[in-house]
Amino acid sequence: MNAADLIRRKRDGGRLDDAEIEALIARYARGEVPDYQMSAMAMAIVFRGLDTEELAAWTRAMLDSGDRLSWDFGPIVDKHSTGGVGDKTSLVLAPVCASLGLHLPMISGRGLGHTGGTLDKLESIPGYDVSLSASTLRRLVRERGMVICGQTGDIVPADKRLYALRDVTGTVESIPLIASSIMSKKLAEGLDGLVLDVKVGSGAFMRTLDQARELGRTMVSLGEAMGVPTRVVLSSMDQPLGRAVGNALEVREAALTLQGQGPADLVELVVVLAAEMLVLGGVATTVEEGAAAARRSLSDGSAWEKWLLAVSAQGGNRRALEDLTQLPTAAHRRDVVAESGGIVTAFETREVGLAAVMLGAGRTRIGESIDPAVGLEVWAEIGDAVHAGDRLFTVHYTDVDELDAACDRLSAAVSIGPSATPAPLILDRI
Ligand code: URA
Repeated sequence: MNAADLIRRKRDGGRLDDAEIEALIARYARGEVPDYQMSAMAMAIVFRGLDTEELAAWTRAMLDSGDRLSWDFGPIVDKHSTGGVGDKTSLVLAPVCASLGLHLPMISGRGLGHTGGTLDKLESIPGYDVSLSASTLRRLVRERGMVICGQTGDIVPADKRLYALRDVTGTVESIPLIASSIMSKKLAEGLDGLVLDVKVGSGAFMRTLDQARELGRTMVSLGEAMGVPTRVVLSSMDQPLGRAVGNALEVREAALTLQGQGPADLVELVVVLAAEMLVLGGVATTVEEGAAAARRSLSDGSAWEKWLLAVSAQGGNRRALEDLTQLPTAAHRRDVVAESGGIVTAFETREVGLAAVMLGAGRTRIGESIDPAVGLEVWAEIGDAVHAGDRLFTVHYTDVDELDAACDRLSAAVSIGPSATPAPLILDRI
């Protein structure tokens, strides 16, 4: 296999056969194909796509690049999101589902492009360890009902490398690359059921409902072909989810949500996703029953208790969650205010995510360190009336050269007009 030949063929609109894909991915996972060739291939796929057979072969090859988990207990159910801004859903959803009897080996990612990453968020809890051995992961899923960790040991090492590469090479926005990245990780978990939260809108990789439906259907076909019942919820990312964007700020919001003080949109999404997962896992017979159980778990403290135990089991300091002032805190704050009065009509949510990256909450180069304390709070939603001078965002920052530019970016990300029709959060299900 000559990687340069394959890149040229894909660039020119040709197709790759199963053996070529297998060899390319296996050699990439072993470090024999360098990142510069893989980023060229990823860019060719962004422009040319993969057909159905190529995608199935690509996903299988990613899956075969490492180990798979298997279980002698269950039900084992997970959820994965295609990525958004302020999306701390997993931090709340996993303990809700675990408190109701599901087992979740949730293998998550770091920030990708303008979107935040669950692992980066969790690492803002002092001591929290995202790198578990396969045996620890198995033990904790059995004993605690959940883990949230990185690509442990040898699970889909090809995606571990490719994901980090795509983050910094402008090669995230591609249906086959997103579908294979997500599904290879999830299929390696040995699941009884999978729920996918496909984000749609100005802060999502899929900006239109049609693109999101296509991604959703693609992932459902891959899941079902591999024998994993898969459901998709399409949810709006036309504005940040909840109020907090940035790692420790999002952990704080997740902790408050688990104590019954969450923002309505985050709670709604958690309940909808949990309901689907509980039905897939056979714990609830209808989504209505699942939703009621999820709401109970949030209000009676059982999800909160479950999270404290799960965080401690991964080395995290539960006192930092019980007393949120112990989480990393930025030294400075600055408000970004409305320049004119009216109704908030739209967010360019991707710009909000990129402003958080400029503050240091995400990466622009592979392996760059991030600042867990920085980020922003969002004080307005689509449909809200604001007056000139009202606070739209509070930026939490440490010394950063690009503060003014980040604030300008935030200011430009909000449109204010005469009227707005707020769109629903849940847009469709597949
Ligand atoms: N989440 C993933 O795991 N991979 C992607 O490509 C996008 C979101």
